[in-house]
Amino acid sequence: MDAMKRIAVFTSGGDAPGMNACIRAVVRTGVYNGLEVFGIRRGYQGMIDDDISQMTRRSVANIIQLGGTMLKTARCAEFMHPEGRSKAAENLKKRGIDGLVCIGGNGSYTGALHLFQEHGIPTIGLPGTIDNDLFGTDFTIGFDTAINTAVEAIDKIRDTADSHDRVFLVEVMGRDAGFIGISVGISGGAEGILIPEDARDLEKIYRFFDRKDRRSKSFSIIVVAEGDEEGGVLQLAHKLSSRYPDLDIRATILGHIQRGGSPTANDRILASRLGYSAVLALLEGQQSQALGIVNNEVKMTPFEQAIKQQKPINNSLIRMAEILAS
Ligand code: F6P
Repeated sequence: MDAMKRIAVFTSGGDAPGMNACIRAVVRTGVYNGLEVFGIRRGYQGMIDDDISQMTRRSVANIIQLGGTMLKTARCAEFMHPEGRSKAAENLKKRGIDGLVCIGGNGSYTGALHLFQEHGIPTIGLPGTIDNDLFGTDFTIGFDTAINTAVEAIDKIRDTADSHDRVFLVEVMGRDAGFIGISVGISGGAEGILIPEDARDLEKIYRFFDRKDRRSKSFSIIVVAEGDEEGGVLQLAHKLSSRYPDLDIRATILGHIQRGGSPTANDRILASRLGYSAVLALLEGQQSQALGIVNNEVKMTPFEQAIKQQKPINNSLIRMAEILAS
């Protein structure tokens, strides 16, 4: 195999705070090691459209503190088909790009795996999603910022909940997973947490409010993951009001504010470590691997495994949250 000379970096799927810090680390580590580094705009869409340009140390100056992604991002339906991937591979080969760093989630990793299998383009995947739902890493880039944003919002909701003696159902993001829900619930001191991984969560809420003294407690915060089987806070508010007409219930969907904002120090450090390690992995000859941090060490997981395996929620956290709310 010839030595790697040109690599490209892109962000794909939902944006996450810390993606810029990660791009910066990839570009600067690449340039330091004598590589030419390119940036692909709008993820796989930009690969297909040949929206690719060279980056320098300077082009990533003053971005470490910014949310969003300077390279923009997209969810690209065309890349799910072999024809789209062939177009993308042709553009990369024409430009002599020998390796890729993909910052994204599960769907982005799947695209990278197909690109490698069909066209032999080596790719290192880095976990960029606020959901923290990727196997092979304890934390994903953006998760820490997102939970801090949500907790800040809950602290504010507490003020008005307390003033009016109300129950607030607060919906947090997490398409299929409850990592944001459980973390925000614990750190926001919630009385209840509903996440898709806990099949008994609604039963626990009923048990809580079935006690009259609980209903006369001045206020309560219930955190609900958007992916919970109850189907969102509006439906849940309706269900709870029918069962407990004496409760004054309000529902708040925090939504995309959780995806924005300046990344926390932890996210910047995580993003920098992973971006740096991804370039070293490509230089070492790694070809189709997802990187993550496990027990504070950078770990590699083959894409096949990272895509297929589900990261479990720590059940002891669910139990602890229940006891602390009792
Ligand atoms: O995967 C990150 C995420 O923010 C999920 O938590 C959420 O379900 C989804 O993206 C929202 O996607 P979009 O911004 O495309 O509506």
